[in-house]
This record gives sequence, structure tokens and C-alpha cells, in this order.
Amino acid sequence: MKRVLVTGSDGMLGSEVMRLLARDRGASAIPTTIDMMDVTNLAQVRDVLDRHRPTHLIHTAAFTHVDTAEKDPLRAYSINAEGTKNLAFFCREQDIEMIYLSTDYVFSGKGTTPYTEDTPPSPINVYGRSKLLGEEYVATLLERYKIVRTSWLNGLGGDYTRNFIETMLRISQSRTTLSLVSDQIGRPTFTFDLAPALVALLDVNSYGIFHVCNEGECSWYDFAREIFAVAGRDDVEVKPITSDHFRSAARRPAYSVLGTDRYDSLGMGTLPHWQSSLRRYFRRREVFQAAASRGEIGPSPHAERMA
Ligand SMILES: NC(=O)c1ccc[n+]([C@@H]2O[C@H](COP(=O)([O-])OP(=O)(O)OC[C@H]3O[C@@H](n4cnc5c(N)ncnc54)[C@H](OP(=O)(O)O)[C@@H]3O)[C@@H](O)[C@H]2O)c1
Repeated sequence: MKRVLVTGSDGMLGSEVMRLLARDRGASAIPTTIDMMDVTNLAQVRDVLDRHRPTHLIHTAAFTHVDTAEKDPLRAYSINAEGTKNLAFFCREQDIEMIYLSTDYVFSGKGTTPYTEDTPPSPINVYGRSKLLGEEYVATLLERYKIVRTSWLNGLGGDYTRNFIETMLRISQSRTTLSLVSDQIGRPTFTFDLAPALVALLDVNSYGIFHVCNEGECSWYDFAREIFAVAGRDDVEVKPITSDHFRSAARRPAYSVLGTDRYDSLGMGTLPHWQSSLRRYFRRREVFQAAASRGEIGPSPHAERMA
């Protein structure tokens, strides 16, 4: 039986991975949050891994605030690079297979066709550089590793209110005209499609980098328009703007479409098109919110911390 330790188990992706593993008869899941194991704390990492002796580790924990990373690069490097190095070090010592979650932001965005796993990365912001350094530690220290790059994540776990879909819906409560960039192209990906792929990858006997995303590609402008169409919000007008008209602390790649041929060739199926998963997101959201209003889903630790 696999013993799978998940870092960031209360995050947006980590909680979806935990939900799946809990139903998996071939695996026992070991959740870890920052309170149980801060990945930057070497002694704590050693202690937790010694205690639980996992066979596999899915490392979803990260500093994911792309703009804040520009202002606080030490924190981003400490968590995304050094924290990952700590885990990889003990995975090597204890022969634990590691899946490390990485990002499309390791690429510059200058490409015009989907990036393959062999395309040389060249990040243009602190978050991307810190995640790439994490990749390099994993690839240097381990033989049995899978680096899974994904992009534009949305899901209903963790502090899901921070995701793009929820952000759009929230802003539209007070403004019905929104301007979104139309010159950044990527692949929206849903945690409920990615998590099963990660769990399936645990049983795959090939290693290295895998790009795993939903099918299709779009701009943030296209994505927002589709969100309001599915939400039935005809009253919201979305206007296209270019990146130079949108001020943000971090530069973002213009074209960050990850080619998924390597993952697709494993024969485990292709992830659905993002547009169909967006519809599923709304159906799941309704069920999720109804359960929350009945008190069946407790408040997230993030909500408590913010209150
Ligand atoms: N979100 C995206 O669009 C996106 C795109 C591509 C790739 N990814 C990658 O996918 C993975 C999952 O992303 P996500 O959006 O699910 O992230 P998330 O919701 O921000 O979750 C990350 C989790 O890591 C925890 N964490 C932060 N610092 C930690 C530390 N020092 N030790 C232990 N845990 C720590 C966070 O806890 P606190 O909240 O308490 O700090 C949070 O629970 C990440 O590796 C990310 O880089 C994300």
C-alpha cells in the first residue's frame, strides 16, 4: 500500500488531492499543513518524514502570490526553492518518490507554440524563478521524481475565493464593466481534473517533467467572458486591454501554453477542455455552497485567519 504525504493539504489543489486519496483503497494519505510541517524548517521536515515514513510525496505547498513575490522575494525563494530542497533532500535519504508541482511561469512567454518539457525555461518574475529553482533542486537531488507543470489553476479547495473565477464574480458585484488583458494566453486548469492525474501519476514508471493542463487555450479576457456567460451575467461588459494598460507588480508571460503530449501519451486520458470544466466548476460550486450553508463544510482556516 502506498503511503502518500501531501504538503499544502489545505491549499486549493492540496485539498482536492486529499479528497481523492481518502477514497483510494490503494493508498493511505498523510495530510500536512504549514502548522504541522513548515517546509522551510529542516528539523520539522526531518521529524515529520521520519515519523510517517511515506513512500510518495506530493508537494503542492508553495508561496503562490505572484505579485507579492516581487516585493518579498526572500519569502518566495525560501518557500518555493529552499523548502523544496529540504523535502527533496529527505526524499533522497529515505527513497521517497516525489511529485513536485510547478508552473507555466517558468517560461518567458515569448513562444508562439505550446512549450514542451524540453523547451528551455526562462522565467520573467520572482515567482517563476523561485519555482524553477525548486525544479532544479528536485532534478539534481532525486532520480525518482515527477515535476508536474500546470497553469491558471481554479478549484473549490483551500482559499478558493482567491481564484480567478471567484475574483471575477466578486468584482462584478460592484462593477458591471471590467477590463481584462487579451494578450496573455494560457490554459485554465481545474483542480478536480488535475488531482486525479496526479494520483494516477503515482503509479507511472517514468520520471522527469510532465506538463498537465486542461485542453484548449484562451486569454484572461476570453476566460472572463466565458465565466460571465456561464454565470448568466449578461449585464457584465468585459473589455479587452493590453498588458501595458494593466499595472501589476509582476510581469507575466504573454504566451504560456503548456503542451501536454508527454502526459497524453501515457494513455491515462486527456484532461477535458477548460470550457466544459468551467461548467462543471459552477455545478460543483452550487453543491459546495449549499453544503456550506447547511454547515456541512466548515470555514477554511484561511477564512478564520482573515476574520
Ligand atoms: N494557482 C495557480 O494558478 C497555479 C498555477 C500553476 C502552478 N501552481 C502550483 O500548484 C501548486 C498548488 O497551488 P495552489 O493554487 O493550490 O496553492 P495554494 O492554494 O496557495 O496552496 C498552497 C499551500 O501551501 C501552504 N504553504 C505556504 N507556505 C508553506 C510552508 N512554508 N510550509 C508548508 N506549507 C506552506 C499554504 O498555506 P497558507 O495558505 O497557510 O500559507 C497553502 O495551504 C503550487 O505548487 C503552485 O506553485 C499553481
